Amino acid sequence: MAQSRIKAALMPLPALTPLAASLPETVPFVGPESIERTRGIRFRARLGANESSFGPSPAVIAAIAAAAPESWKYCDPEVFDLRQALARHHGVTPDEVSVGEGIDGLLGHCIRLFAAPGDVVVTSIGAYPTFNYHVTSFGARLHAVPYRDDREDLDALLAAVRETDAKIVYLANPDNPMGTWWDADAVTAFADALPPTTLLLLDEAYGEFAPPGTLPPIDTGRGSVLHLRTFSKAYGLAGLRCGYAIGPGPLTGAFNRVRNHFGVSSITQAAALAALADQDYLASVVTQTGAARQRIDTIARANGLIPLPSATNFVAVDCGRDGAFAQNVLNALTDLGVFIRKPMAPRLDRCIRITAGTDAMLNVLETALPEALTTARR
Ligand SMILES: Cc1ncc(COP(=O)(O)O)c(C=O)c1O
Repeated sequence: MAQSRIKAALMPLPALTPLAASLPETVPFVGPESIERTRGIRFRARLGANESSFGPSPAVIAAIAAAAPESWKYCDPEVFDLRQALARHHGVTPDEVSVGEGIDGLLGHCIRLFAAPGDVVVTSIGAYPTFNYHVTSFGARLHAVPYRDDREDLDALLAAVRETDAKIVYLANPDNPMGTWWDADAVTAFADALPPTTLLLLDEAYGEFAPPGTLPPIDTGRGSVLHLRTFSKAYGLAGLRCGYAIGPGPLTGAFNRVRNHFGVSSITQAAALAALADQDYLASVVTQTGAARQRIDTIARANGLIPLPSATNFVAVDCGRDGAFAQNVLNALTDLGVFIRKPMAPRLDRCIRITAGTDAMLNVLETALPEALTTARR
């Protein structure tokens, strides 16, 4: 890499746009694979990326195998069958659903569509960083408010929207990285209080894990809310990249102005259809995830740490000291082959974040955590 840069410095190259030139070359998250490569280690337990350790349904694996021989064909650019199925599942019309390369991909489209360079976009300090990445890369301006009591602060978000005349406000419910949540009534009241010209991006990536009464009903008659859902979490398809937006037709239709029309591969479309059809499997994953969360809770408490309540497939665990100490715990767990992540924002950073893993993964955590804490306390 360094050598190619030296070589490039010696030859004339096309100039980046001023906006692109102002951006760092960055990946919002350091992947476990990069850590393994740079540190020359192999993780024994992968508990950091909030994937579903329980994997996809066997019916999905069969659908992927069946679709594989057909992968010489371009995929259906209208994602017709999946949009029909999603519309039936959620009680909306197919034109009120747009499918993309995960919520991450859809977030980028939302910024490009609804926030011009210089426009203000509101989020929370320490909330999902890929959102910020897209805001910055399209030249919009971030205005972020702190969490309150480990939850996204709806009053502060609303006040910030009013103060800045924001074009978009982002709310993840349930939230990453804390796992906390608001109930549906609070979210609906928040949406109702927003100016009609502000788009609420309601990121419900963890919605399937949340207790009943958390997700507000989907009402596409409401002008300014897009619900963002994904097959990456409870459906266990993070590697295939499939998410969808549900909202009023003119908003979901607008994705057709900017989206990558062949971005959701034929294998991904077939897999997502099969995943959606297997709601029994989804229910079993939600149950297993709840049990794993409970086990993380028990392991944390046995080590004198405080697990936060969670409506997601991970648990934020308060390490009881400051961010530097929690970082030491994370580093020590990495050295012991356990991949986790942690919140980085002030106050939230006292926590580490552990994904609901299989029994085998949590056995590794159970053994490693006491040793990691001893190392971190030195
Ligand atoms: C709040 C939130 N939104 C979106 C995503 C990414 O979803 P997708 O895999 O559909 O891009 C994540 C993944 O961790 C997340 O935590």
